[in-house]
Amino acid sequence: MIKVRECIKGFPQGFLWGGASAANQCEGAFGVDGKGLSLTDLHPYTKNLDRTKLDFNHMTKKRLEEIMADENLWFPKRQGVNFYYRYKEYLALLAEMGFSTFRLSISWTRIFPMGDEAEPNEAGLRFYDALFDEMKRLNIEPIVTISHYDMPIHLSLKYNGWYDRKCIDFFTKYAKVLLERYKGKVKYWIVINQINLIQYECYGSLGILSDTVQNYPQAQFQAIHHQFVACAKVIEAARSISPDYHMGTMIADCTLYPYSCKPEDVTLALKRNRMQYFFTDVQFRGEYPMYALQYFEKEGIQLAVQLEDEALIGKYAPDFLCISYYYSYCLDASKNTMDAASTTKNPYLEANEWGWSINPAGLYSSVSQYWDRYQVPLMIGENGFGYVDVLEKDGSVHDDYRIHYLRGHIEALKQAVCDGAELFAYCSWAPFDMISAGTSEMSKRYGYIYVDYDDLGNGSGKLYKKDSFAWYQKVIRSNGEIL
Ligand code: BG6
Repeated sequence: MIKVRECIKGFPQGFLWGGASAANQCEGAFGVDGKGLSLTDLHPYTKNLDRTKLDFNHMTKKRLEEIMADENLWFPKRQGVNFYYRYKEYLALLAEMGFSTFRLSISWTRIFPMGDEAEPNEAGLRFYDALFDEMKRLNIEPIVTISHYDMPIHLSLKYNGWYDRKCIDFFTKYAKVLLERYKGKVKYWIVINQINLIQYECYGSLGILSDTVQNYPQAQFQAIHHQFVACAKVIEAARSISPDYHMGTMIADCTLYPYSCKPEDVTLALKRNRMQYFFTDVQFRGEYPMYALQYFEKEGIQLAVQLEDEALIGKYAPDFLCISYYYSYCLDASKNTMDAASTTKNPYLEANEWGWSINPAGLYSSVSQYWDRYQVPLMIGENGFGYVDVLEKDGSVHDDYRIHYLRGHIEALKQAVCDGAELFAYCSWAPFDMISAGTSEMSKRYGYIYVDYDDLGNGSGKLYKKDSFAWYQKVIRSNGEIL
């Protein structure tokens, strides 16, 4: 018999509201308490930056050596916004806004400074103990990312990052240390940040030096295969450590619309969107889909897969899917290809200085489509609007553009929830300003809280509430009713 349920009118009771961050972009405290050197500690600030281009993406050994030898470079992520020293101040403001959750990542190099040591670094572990204790005191539920773009540089230089199967063991060991240590303090884990984002942030994600391999796409997918196996092993470990653990995987969704109703555009969009689903198809369905195998064959990609891998991936599927969403693009078959970085601007949408379009409807469609495809609990792990905010003389920041962006996206989410998607959390990126992942600049601000540092790390470091602070506070208080 068909059951008719009552219509849902908004976000469910107990919905988690908060924001998201990453250790490498906010903590700072470079080299402190035994921290090792990570990939992003080497992401320099570039003067006269072309904001639409990412320079720390396809990293070569040659370029990395140049960066390491250049004493004049400034590395903003080494200072971040001093979260390591000031986390109590930041968390107090998040609590004031009413945050019931805060997504953060653990810095791999604080725990295993080189990545392949036998024992973890106790000082690093102690820092997160203190952080989680403070969050507990403030009733803020942590959602913890185990790896967010900060692999130890040693693993990249010695093993070529995730390309080497050994990385599975290094990572699993690191993750197990966290799962054991923070049992009772953390319930929600995201194993790898945006596992699908290999067209951008690919050095940060995979640690492969592109000039050291013959077929870079092949190396990337091999590395991704290793990440799939590692995720399954981490989930396997989590199941035996605590029944309370909820283990998530994460993708960055960029909805791709056909540029026109020409069948070629529609088919290209379908095929490209399917290659975005590839990652979660493998993780939730437990096997490599045929469309991906066909794609690999065409591209000359041959994966080294061990016999037990597929069974392991199939057995240890994640419990939930975390989605980050910022913008959407179009595909025009006369210009674009299957290459994941090839896209066309949507002429109907406005965009920010970095070319990131504003499209709440894209969030509705991606959440709905992921829900329809997997029917697993979903959370929004990142969503936000980067802008060059202006700090007024009286300490105010009038960021109505950010409120406008977030309002539209939360409305779209509410619609997706009302249409059936099971969503348990919304974390905007990022509750306080921090260094941009893509361009390593401070000027690309996302926060409800203005942090007074500039691109070169100068400034008072004072924290100011932007107009969006009070707005988000109301959104949280009303469980998303007052937007
Ligand atoms: C996400 C990353 O893809 O985008 C974050 O997970 C990042 O780390 C965010 O900060 C926004 O990108 P950017 O380059 O504007 O900081």
